[in-house]
Amino acid sequence: MGKFITFEGGEGSGKTTQIKLAADWLKERGIPVLATAEPGGTPLGRKIREILLSRKSCAIGAEAELLLFSAARVQHVRETILPALEAGQWVLCDRFTDATLAYQGFGRKLDVEFIRTLNDFSTCSLKPDLTLLLDLPVEAGLARAKKRTAGICPEAAEDRFEREERIFHERIREGYLSFAANEPERFRIINGAADVESVRREVCLHLSALP
Ligand SMILES: Nc1ncnc2c1ncn2[C@@H]1O[C@H](COP(=O)(O)OP(=O)(O)O)[C@@H](O)[C@H]1O
Ligand SMILES: [Mg+2]
Repeated sequence: MGKFITFEGGEGSGKTTQIKLAADWLKERGIPVLATAEPGGTPLGRKIREILLSRKSCAIGAEAELLLFSAARVQHVRETILPALEAGQWVLCDRFTDATLAYQGFGRKLDVEFIRTLNDFSTCSLKPDLTLLLDLPVEAGLARAKKRTAGICPEAAEDRFEREERIFHERIREGYLSFAANEPERFRIINGAADVESVRREVCLHLSALP
């Protein structure tokens, strides 16, 4: 079995940037890697991603949002993640179950215990070997995300989550930090406000410490 490593954190915390760098670092060491993302990672997941993130999407209530993320996840786990792990690959996943707890539980205030049960169902009880939480102040992350979007497409506005008010993002940050405090053996908190190279070094350090 390969290792399953998830990257978590708020908007603009550097997950996508660091996953790419970590995948390169592992490949240089001859470790087979699959870098993937949620929602996405399968044809069904990418269709669901379009619905969930698009600003032009139809109305999506909090409960429907939760179930759409979960539908994308169960397909992702069965179709992509489990087969890769069984083939001995290390799977680096951009967001996973903690994101659902943080966003739909703490952000949208849905029942956290119910989400834990649903997460268990939609992952076939698969747990990450390691979760790297990129933590930084909400304001800084949102500013980065905004700059990133403007760089890709100047006329594009923020996605459905980036548009949420600041307090929503503060609740998500608090949620993530509480999960990390409750499961210190799985989580590593990394200062996401540091420069890209410093964060990369810390990520690689944690990866190399995996048994
Ligand atoms: N440590 C960093 N310092 C400054 N800018 C960063 C850092 N990491 C990422 N960025 C930039 O911030 C934006 C958001 O990073 P990204 O990796 O897409 O975050 P996420 O995937 O967590 O939303 C991108 O434009 C990226 O180039
Ligand atoms: Mg990203």
